[in-house]
Parts: sequence; structure tokens; C-alpha cells
Amino acid sequence: MVEEKKKRGHWKSKLGFILAAAGSAVGLGNIWKFPYITGENGGGYFVLIYLACILIVGIPIMMAEIMIGRASKKQPVGAFEELQGEKTGWTFVGWMGVACGFIILSFYIVVAGWAMDYTLKAVVNFSNPIAEKAETAAKVYRVKTSVADMRKTLVERRIKLESAESISVVRGKASKKVWSEYKNYTKAIESGVALKEARKVLFEDEKFKRKIELAIKLEKNISEIKRKARVEAIEFYEKIDDKKIRDESETLFRRQKIAVGIDKAFGSLVTDGWTSSFWAFAFMLLTILVVAGGVSGGIEKVCTVLMPTLVGIMIFMVCYGVFQPGFKSAITFVFYPDISKLKASGVLEALGHAFFTLSLGMGAMLTYGSYQEDKKGLLSQSIWIALLDTGIAILACMMIFPIIFSYGMSPSAGPGLVFKSMPLAFTEIGSGGMLLGIIFFSLLVLAALTSAISLLEVVASYFIDVKNWSRVRAAWIIGGAVFLFALPSAFSYDPDFIMASWTPTFGMNFFDTMDYLSSNWLLPFGGLFIAIYAGWVMPAKLRDAEFEGSSKMVLTIWLMLIRFVAPILVTLVILQKVGILQLN
Ligand code: TRP
Repeated sequence: MVEEKKKRGHWKSKLGFILAAAGSAVGLGNIWKFPYITGENGGGYFVLIYLACILIVGIPIMMAEIMIGRASKKQPVGAFEELQGEKTGWTFVGWMGVACGFIILSFYIVVAGWAMDYTLKAVVNFSNPIAEKAETAAKVYRVKTSVADMRKTLVERRIKLESAESISVVRGKASKKVWSEYKNYTKAIESGVALKEARKVLFEDEKFKRKIELAIKLEKNISEIKRKARVEAIEFYEKIDDKKIRDESETLFRRQKIAVGIDKAFGSLVTDGWTSSFWAFAFMLLTILVVAGGVSGGIEKVCTVLMPTLVGIMIFMVCYGVFQPGFKSAITFVFYPDISKLKASGVLEALGHAFFTLSLGMGAMLTYGSYQEDKKGLLSQSIWIALLDTGIAILACMMIFPIIFSYGMSPSAGPGLVFKSMPLAFTEIGSGGMLLGIIFFSLLVLAALTSAISLLEVVASYFIDVKNWSRVRAAWIIGGAVFLFALPSAFSYDPDFIMASWTPTFGMNFFDTMDYLSSNWLLPFGGLFIAIYAGWVMPAKLRDAEFEGSSKMVLTIWLMLIRFVAPILVTLVILQKVGILQLN
């Protein structure tokens, strides 16, 4: 019996494709990760470099993926075979993509699940009791503490805040390795044998000696920075009258109490594998339902509704931010270029993130491209997708940082920025904050959903196209398998995790291992191979046909970028990520 070939899904409209692809690109990477790495890298130049990476590496590789998909009309595994006319080593790149989609999705749904948990938390106003308790405690603190002690506390805090940046710049002058060796050295010396003797033995290694001397010199600079900050802070608070000191101390005390409460809430969520799994399950279910609905009936439909909603909600949040006292500092922080805050490793981080945020390197854009019917608009589509993605990442900064700065929190809080600092700010805002919290976290869930769809689609499309499974079957079975594989990630922070030996064996927990594997290895290598394939291997006739309607110059520039610039830069990222290159 000859099986009749099922008709392949396709997009109803160009706009539908762009919104679906942008939906894939816009996700946790934009709203959760971009703001915090911008914070950690000091904003300004980091943002500029990130934009440059999107332009000279991101867009060309996105074009490469879309064109491989369009030309082959296949999912990643079949695409290379179709274009080459036979099975070659390139097919492996497709396999890598499918595996990578599976892996990314497995930890992505855990984080997305946390966002769902937080949406419910916001709805039930979970921080209210925490805030009430904190307020009472702060009032007691106010009457029980002497002004002198309050001043002392404020001074210490100001020293930390004011010197943190300069200290991190000084620290950045030596590599992580130097600092860890220095730490080992001081420990060894302290615990140590006759001091001089020990030093002598250790310093016989010239290289080691130089490293330690560098660290000691930098340590001196740091003490000097701290000393200056202390003088400044004492002077600053001497001029302030007692009433203001009391007010400021009370606020600070209250915020610290709330922060502790929220920290605990986040901690009890992530250390509770069952709850994390429950939410991952709920989120996976949503994703499956959309993918089972088909390309135009599920993915396109959902994305054309969700993407404009998402942008609308974000603009609302940014408008709220504009009227906050911290708006100006937020803008300065994000856009004002300060060269002293830029580290070489930040440049590579920007490039690595450009990959993740545009959903490149594993065939997601390739698969979405393969559902396109005609060949026009390769460049303009890629630019639109990148523009939407970048615009939303910047909007995310402009909605998060004004609130962060207005409520005296640190922009460099790291991964906890969204799950800890934002709820704290919402709590301090009061009753309106509850509404903002609901809006903010549902936004996060929606953004994650349109990305998760694309990840599941890549894996499912293989089984649909090659194994001839029905779409519904593929979505449910693959989705179910991803959920099972997500369990160890959901339990990664749980003290009762049955795979407790994972962390000591691999040096990081299961969740981080999956993240590391995909972000540091699979995606960059996938991107590198895709660039090489599109630039050097893909039959020129097929390639040029994809540029229908664009000028010769576009093709020439793209070829230069995809053949030389992208592979070289991506190789640098790989070398840095796996630790061969140690830039700082
Ligand atoms: N781009 C999404 C984000 O920023 C994540 C994502 C979806 C992704 N599909 C991908 C990342 C494919 C890499 C590859 O959150």
C-alpha cells in the first residue's frame, strides 16, 4: 500500500509568519535574561554591542536558516539531505537541532512554570502578609534603635552601593582564575606553616608568583576604593538630620524584611520539585495544545493574537515606568555608554545571547521558514523579526529598570531580577502593584509560550514529516516525553532529589547542565555549521533563488558576513564558552 503524502502545513500570511517567528524569538531570553545581563554588564556599551551582534551575525544567520528551510521545505533533519541530494554529514546538524530543541524545552518549561506560579501568587496577593509583618517590624525597629546605630547601618550600606561598581571594574582586571588561585593562596598561607617558608615554596613558580602579585596589587586598590567610599559616606550622612535618618532606616529595614520574605517564597518554590513539576506540566499542556492545532490553525493563530497583546501590555508597563522617579536613571543606565564598565567577556556574552534570543542555531527558524510558500522578502522578514525581538528586549529593560531604580534596588541582581526584585517592587507599590504584578507575570508566561511552541514544533515536525505521525499524536507524545525529561530539572533544586549525586558528579545541577549543554555547545556549534553550510556548501543555484527580488548587493554583503564574519565571531564565542579563550 502506498501511503499518500500528507499535505504539509504552511502559513496563511506573511504577517503570520513574521509574528510566529518573532513569537519564537521573544521569550524568557528577552524579558528575564536580557535585562539582567544588561544589568550585570553595566548597560550602555553592552547594549550597543548587542545591537551590533544582532546586525552582523544574528540577521545573516537568521536569513541562512530561513532560506535552508524554504529551499528544502523540510524540517532540520531532512533539510540538508534534500538540498544535497543525498545523506551527508550535514544531516547530523539537523539531528543536533532536534536534540537541542528537546533539551532547551525541558528546562524552559520549568522557568516558564515558575512564571505561572508567580502569576497566581500575584493574583492572590501573596506578598501582602509579608508586607504587613515587615511594616510592623520596621516600626518597632524605628523606636528601638538609636540614631547613631541607624547612621552606622546606612553608612555601611552606602559604602557597598557606591563602591560596588568600581570594585567590579578592578576585579575585572584579573581573570577568574587569578582570583580563585589567590583565594586558595591566602587560605593556604593563613592556615599555614611558617609563613615565609610557605611563600617561598609557592613562589618558585614564576607564573604563579606573578598572578598572586597582581591580585595583591588589585586588592590594595580595592581597599583604597573602600576607604574613600567610607569617608564619603560618613560625610554624606553627617549632613542629614535625625528625622530623615530615621525615615530612611525604617524604609530600608522594611524593604529588607520584605526581600527576605520574597526570597524565601522563591526559595520554597524552586526547592519544591513537586510544585515546579506541576507548573511545568501545566505549561507543557498549553504548548502541546497549540502545536497540535497545526501550523496555521494553532501556531499562527495563537501568535497573531498573543504578539500584539504582549507588545500592548509592555507599552502599558513602560508608560507606568515613565512616571516613576527612577525613570531617568533607568534610561541613563541602559543607554549611556560608559567604556569603563565594558569587559571583553561582555562582548562575547552579547553575541552568545544574540543567538539564543533570536532562536538561532537549532533549526527553529529553519522549520518555520519551511512552512513558507513563496520566496520573496528574505531580508525584510529577517529584519522585522530581529527588530521586534530587539525592540521588545529594550522595552523589557525600560519597564523593569525604572521600577528597580525607583525602589532602591540593584540593577545587577542577576537571575533573580525578575523573580525577586520585581515582586519586591510590586509589594512596595501597594495595591496597584498587585495589578502590575499580575500583568507582568502573565506577560512573561505568554512570551515563554510562543517560544516553547517553536521548540516543540521542531521536534514534532520530524516525527510528522519523517515518521508520518499525525500532528496531534506527535504533539502529545513528544510533549509528554519532554515533560518526563523536564522532571530532573524541576527537581534540581529540591533537597530530596533522587539524582542527588548528579551535582557532585558534574559540578552543576541537572538544570544547569542542560542549560550549559545547549547554550554553550549545541547552539553555537549549530549556528557555526549553519553559517558554513549556507555560505560555502549549499548549491549556489538554490541559494541565489532565495534572494529573489532583492538586489545583488544584498547577496554580496550577506555572503561576506555569512562566510567570514559570522563563523569567526561564533568560533570566538565557542572558545570563550568552553574556557579555551579566557578574556576578561
Ligand atoms: N528565543 C527564545 C527566548 O529568547 C528561546 C527560544 C525559542 C530558542 N526557540 C529557540 C532559543 C530556539 C534557541 C533556539 O527566550
